[in-house]
Amino acid sequence: MNSETEFELPQLYRHHVFVCHVQRPPTHPHGSCGAAGAQVLWDRMSKAIEAQGLTDIGFTAAGCLGFCNVGP
Ligand code: FES
Repeated sequence: MNSETEFELPQLYRHHVFVCHVQRPPTHPHGSCGAAGAQVLWDRMSKAIEAQGLTDIGFTAAGCLGFCNVGP
């Protein structure tokens, strides 16, 4: 540690992708990634990452990331 406010995290991945899976009703004013095809994105990305053996990429399902109307 360098100071009381800094800390080091273990380097697990070179990159870490978070995919929002929130599913709101279709009429919800914020929209949602689940309603816009997040599962399809998840399936394609996870298969591509696995097929290419990209073990340095973390891939994690996430809650709302704040991009609701433009996701996934
Ligand atoms: S619902 Fe996916 S970013 Fe908000």
